[in-house]
Formats: sequence, structure tokens, C-alpha cells
Amino acid sequence: MRLFALSMLICLSGVLHISSAIAADPSDDPTATPYSSAGDVAAGEQLFKRCKACHLVTDEGRARPTGPRLYGLFGRTAGSLAEFKYYSKALKKADHVWTEERLYAFLEDPNAYVPGIKSAMRVQKITDQDKRKDLLAYLRQATALKNE
Ligand code: HEC
Repeated sequence: MRLFALSMLICLSGVLHISSAIAADPSDDPTATPYSSAGDVAAGEQLFKRCKACHLVTDEGRARPTGPRLYGLFGRTAGSLAEFKYYSKALKKADHVWTEERLYAFLEDPNAYVPGIKSAMRVQKITDQDKRKDLLAYLRQATALKNE
């Protein structure tokens, strides 16, 4: 009996181990900071100059037709902002939450990550890994919800 209880315990701990590994998948966790923690905020702010023409980062100012506001980006569902009327079907359908893991892959080649994304965003490729980390470090700070 004792042996049975012991083997049940080992089995249960195995199950718990697996489920905690799934829950900890960084691609689904908007609070995980695998890239921004290695990035430089000031360098990222410089890089964001090329995004600024189309994207706002705070909740201030009127919505722009050029690109969706990035305020509250981490944890937001892709293509979900009601105030932005010009999302492509592709981005609306993407149906994932933005996390660092996903943005890191997306910003390397937006159209490879979301095939059919609008051409304005399609050309925004940041192939340098360090630059993507810098940009994420800046976006973490600049797009943070004010009550966080
Ligand atoms: C010329 C305008 C333009 C520039 C410059 C631009 N974007 Fe975009 N961006 C867009 C548009 C338009 C979309 C929506 C695409 C769609 O719906 O297919 C978009 C979508 C996005 C999204 C997804 C937002 C959401 O609500 O799901 C992110 C993140 C993003 N851009 C980040 C960036 C970053 C970072 C840069 C700078 C490296 C950048 N963009 C530069 C126009 C632009």
C-alpha cells in the first residue's frame, strides 16, 4: 500500500511538472521579459523614430489612421483595437496576445509572422537581434498602461 501511495505521488508530481512547464511558456506570457531585459531603452527610443510616423505609444492624442496605437501593447490581442479602423483581415485573424516572444519574431519580418499584413507594416523589418531587444526595452516602458 505504501508503495502504491508513493508511486501515485511520483506520478502526480510528473503531471504537475508538465502542466507548470506549459503555463510558463514565455510566448504566451505578456509579463515575461526575455528580450527587453537585455535591451537598451535609449537606443530603442532612437529606433522607434522610424515607427513614430504611424504609431502612438500612449493613450494621449487622437487615433491615427496610419497605424494602431501601441499603448498597452503587451498583453493586448493582435488586431483588436476598436479605434483603429484599418486593420487587415490577416492581423485581425491572428488572434494571439502580444508578448515579447511574439513581437521579437514579428518585428524581424512582419509578413512572415502574419502573412497578408498591410504593406505599411510589411516593410518594417528589423533583422538585427540586438536592435529588436533595444526596441522591446523601449516599448515595454513607453507603452505601459499608466495604472501599472
Ligand atoms: C508607414 C506606417 C507604419 C510604420 C512606419 C510602422 N508601422 Fe506598425 N503598423 C502599421 C499598420 C498599418 C499596422 C496594421 C497592419 C495590419 O492591420 O495589417 C501596424 C501594426 C503594428 C503592430 C500590431 C499592432 C496591433 O494592434 O496588433 C505592431 C506591434 C507594430 N505595428 C509595431 C511597429 C513598430 C515597432 C514599428 C517600427 C519599427 C512600426 N510598427 C512601424 C503601420 C506602420
